[in-house]
Amino acid sequence: MHVVAVLNQKGGSGKTTIATNLATALQRRGYRVALVDADPQKTASEWAARGEDTPPTYEATAGSLHENVPALREAFDIVVIDGAPRMTKLATSAVKTADLVLIPVQPSGADIWAAEDILDIVEERQRVTGEPRAAFVVSRAVAGTNLAESIQGALESYEADVLESRTGHRVAYTEALGAGISALDTGGKAANEVESLTDEVIELLIQKNEQ
Ligand SMILES: Nc1ncnc2c1ncn2[C@@H]1O[C@H](COP(=O)(O)OP(=O)(O)O)[C@@H](O)[C@H]1O
Ligand SMILES: [Mg+2]
Repeated sequence: MHVVAVLNQKGGSGKTTIATNLATALQRRGYRVALVDADPQKTASEWAARGEDTPPTYEATAGSLHENVPALREAFDIVVIDGAPRMTKLATSAVKTADLVLIPVQPSGADIWAAEDILDIVEERQRVTGEPRAAFVVSRAVAGTNLAESIQGALESYEADVLESRTGHRVAYTEALGAGISALDTGGKAANEVESLTDEVIELLIQKNEQ
């Protein structure tokens, strides 16, 4: 079983959007996927309850993830954890159980600095176990803007991968989150972005298995 945790201490960075879309896309590719909602605001759980084709979704309390997620091993191929803002205990617990940490960042200096908190937690764990792998995902990029262009360089100065896939700033994501569906259902560019993100995540998980 692989565990992908979508984490950033900053609220509104795109965690739930990425977690719900990624979990749906992985499920449609035939993986047995569980979504773990670690945010007390329960946005992912509400999304799942609203939809018909959503992955099984579990609510988790902060700090218990590394104890409870391994119990899903028999039933699922991939667990996607949707993190919460500000909760250091939760992030530490999620990082302990994750193979891959995805860090959504919006293209702004302030958002990159805010992501340093989660990187610190990841690096602390890496010093002990060599795991997990971490990768930034640029979120809500507005195509053609200087910010969207320059963020790549800014992120590459950190000790984490930067995924080639991004989410653009698109209303399809907000509509999908509110309607219990994914951007795969709304189609268009957002659907392509989700497919591409899913390809990259699978690639990283396979690479890890081969190490
Ligand atoms: N790529 C995107 N384009 C447009 N809106 C987005 C995008 N990603 C997230 N949003 C919107 O921004 C808000 C915060 O996103 P969300 O995924 O809930 O962030 P988090 O879980 O990190 O708090 C939501 O209203 C969501 O619909
Ligand atoms: Mg959220």
